[in-house]
Amino acid sequence: MDNIILIGFMGCGKTSAGRRIAKKLGAALVDTDQMVVKQAGMEITEIFAKHGEAYFRVLEHQAVLEVASGRNQVVSTGGGVVKSAANVAALKQNGTIVYIKCSPVKIYNNTRGDTARPLLNTGNRLKTIRKLMSERSPLYEAAADITVDASKMNVAQLANIIIKLCREAKNEKAANH
Ligand code: S3P
Repeated sequence: MDNIILIGFMGCGKTSAGRRIAKKLGAALVDTDQMVVKQAGMEITEIFAKHGEAYFRVLEHQAVLEVASGRNQVVSTGGGVVKSAANVAALKQNGTIVYIKCSPVKIYNNTRGDTARPLLNTGNRLKTIRKLMSERSPLYEAAADITVDASKMNVAQLANIIIKLCREAKNEKAANH
């Protein structure tokens, strides 16, 4: 199986949908944020505070390269993975990239009370989400093979539709060869 790569804004449901998809498909579940935490030996907030975002991005790129060399994985990525064209190119090699699109208000509700995402720890979280999302949306869209709007779905629906769309994409690819 080609990897299924989940991209999208922080709090859109990549990790929870990824968990369900991997279980249903009997595939391995991989999370690039977790790989970075393991590699650094500290939590993401601590990496940002001690070494800055640039250092986090270096570790994230290493995690991406490792993931991109494997198959049969459902990969949950960090929301900023698309900032690097090299990341997107590596992930595309043997993976289908699924963009989980989500409204700023839903992201805001999903991340309420959460302090583990340094980029959202600002005075006005909703404003930060809107600003970052307008910068990132074109990158998510350009990277995506498949886009799913999760704004009005629960996790189970989201996981099921992603599995269905990936199957269809695979069949279409096979038919065109
Ligand atoms: C980030 C998203 C986070 C994590 C880091 C930076 C981003 O992952 O990689 O805090 O730049 O959007 P999630 O999307 O899993 O929250």
